[in-house]
Amino acid sequence: MLTTSKEILLKAQAGGYAVGAFNVENMEMVQAVAEAAEELQSPVIMQTTPSTVKYAGLDYYLANVKTAAERTSVPVVMHLDHGNSFELAMQALRAGYTSIMIDGSHEAFEVNMTVSRAVANACHPSEVPVEAELGKVGGKEDDLDGGDDNPYTDPQEAKEFAERTGVDFLAVGIGTAHGVYKGEPKLQFDILSRIRDVVEIPLVLHGTSGVPDEAVKECIKRGICKVNYATDLRIAFTKGVKGVFTADTDTIDPKKYSAAGREEVKKYVMSKIKVCGSAGKA
Ligand code: 13P
Ligand code: ZN
Ligand code: NA
Repeated sequence: MLTTSKEILLKAQAGGYAVGAFNVENMEMVQAVAEAAEELQSPVIMQTTPSTVKYAGLDYYLANVKTAAERTSVPVVMHLDHGNSFELAMQALRAGYTSIMIDGSHEAFEVNMTVSRAVANACHPSEVPVEAELGKVGGKEDDLDGGDDNPYTDPQEAKEFAERTGVDFLAVGIGTAHGVYKGEPKLQFDILSRIRDVVEIPLVLHGTSGVPDEAVKECIKRGICKVNYATDLRIAFTKGVKGVFTADTDTIDPKKYSAAGREEVKKYVMSKIKVCGSAGKA
């Protein structure tokens, strides 16, 4: 069933686990995430970035996720990931997305606060929850460059930001980066705990592909309720497709190699649902 993120993330927060948010880019990835969640009886969030939205349109992805949600008994959320303008956030709201991120983290504090508050005010009458970001996630999320400046979220700023914007969830910078890590990511668990101490709303971890499972579990213990995975789903899908072409270079049936990609994504998502601790929580 299609639902909003607020209910499942507040339940996760109360229960001390997290819900995985998986970036989907085609029908097979949507199917894979839904099947994994169904099999493990877990709530799940599917999300699309602005560049994914540009590829096929909000309506195409929403239609896929809606169909997947209708075919499963577990709660499924359709979330806009890294919404980069008020306008795109409003388009997602009107299209029927059930959760929206506005990412003003590259702006100055006050500017970030203003746009995040505006999106929250626009979405809340429709009971669509809003995620915002303060601090920075390194690396590159599709077209968005995280840059190299101080990435860490200041706990006191986070408190003020959450209170004054009225957003429902807050993505924080604690040392993760989008994409594949060059070395081991160095996460600042103490900063996360200090944010948790002063911010009441569920916290979100970005850039989780490449973060060791044990570190993710530690973050969940310290207050992370939504865990974003993107790059590793691309890698899994491509691995499945490549496997088919390697075995039979004459393959021409898209169903054949896409199904192999789907299977790899499903396996990956099942393993990460277990890391999040949300299996059986549907
Ligand atoms: P990764 O690509 O590192 O998994 O990051 C995902 C993410 O943060 C999506 O918003
Ligand atoms: Zn992200
Ligand atoms: Na990453």
